[in-house]
Amino acid sequence: MKPAILMTDPAHYDVRYEINPWMRPAEWTPEHLSSAIRAWQDLKRALERAGADVSVIESTPGWPDMVFAANLAVVFDRKFVLARFRHEERRGEEAHFRAALGARADKEIISLPPGMIQEGAGDFIWDVTRRIFWAGYGQRSDRSAALWIGDVLGAETVPLELASPRFYHLDTCFCPLSGGEVLYYPPAFTDDALRAIRARVAPQALIEADAQAAAAFCINAVNLGRTIVMSKAPRSWRAILAGRGYKIEEVDLAPFILSGGAAFCLTLRLDNAHVTASLEAATG
Ligand code: ARG
Repeated sequence: MKPAILMTDPAHYDVRYEINPWMRPAEWTPEHLSSAIRAWQDLKRALERAGADVSVIESTPGWPDMVFAANLAVVFDRKFVLARFRHEERRGEEAHFRAALGARADKEIISLPPGMIQEGAGDFIWDVTRRIFWAGYGQRSDRSAALWIGDVLGAETVPLELASPRFYHLDTCFCPLSGGEVLYYPPAFTDDALRAIRARVAPQALIEADAQAAAAFCINAVNLGRTIVMSKAPRSWRAILAGRGYKIEEVDLAPFILSGGAAFCLTLRLDNAHVTASLEAATG
């Protein structure tokens, strides 16, 4: 079975407010939209070449960040735990995503308890090797929500506190790979979070990104089997990943980095489950 990925069409993407330090509304021009649409299509093709089945939901005018599908829900075993956003600027995406899901009967749609904030798979990352979730909190998502979701999904969940507004979602600074390696950017984490990572990942499996690779959003990667799809990478970062036996697929995602997002943020993996049927299980 192919890995299943959901993306949101980029038709209504733009950068008009600032809810993270990467966002620069003053630099946004209408030309950015056409380059963003091309970049999004390149990403979709790269994911399909790497073996994914990509489905697309419609975006909604007025919600320019809805293109970052990773933030819309946590999906596991066909359960969709809908996100609840920290910032008013993204709150409206929740209802539109719920409506977009409405037509599909093969899933259970779950809402967070009142008051809990959690921004989807961007802060809740499945580790196919260790069979655990790693959950970011402290910037956009609450620790209590991470633990609640772990319980609901019946999956071990390791909360990791994020220390920097620049790395405000876990997927900007942490990426487990199919071979058991973990890409991460240490300055993004508190000391306790670093201890939790190092307690579960052997030193030889931990791959540290430098500031340049982290700022190029090259940890925000989509790993499918032995392929890593990510934004344009510094040469040194490509060499490290190639040295571990991964095939690198780069896509120029500059128009999305202008909003603080890249490859992983633009995707929502639909087929993570207690029992994995897709290619990671075969090749990972
Ligand atoms: N502008 C968006 C925000 O600040 C970018 C989201 C990127 N998504 C992610 N999963 N890191 O919410």
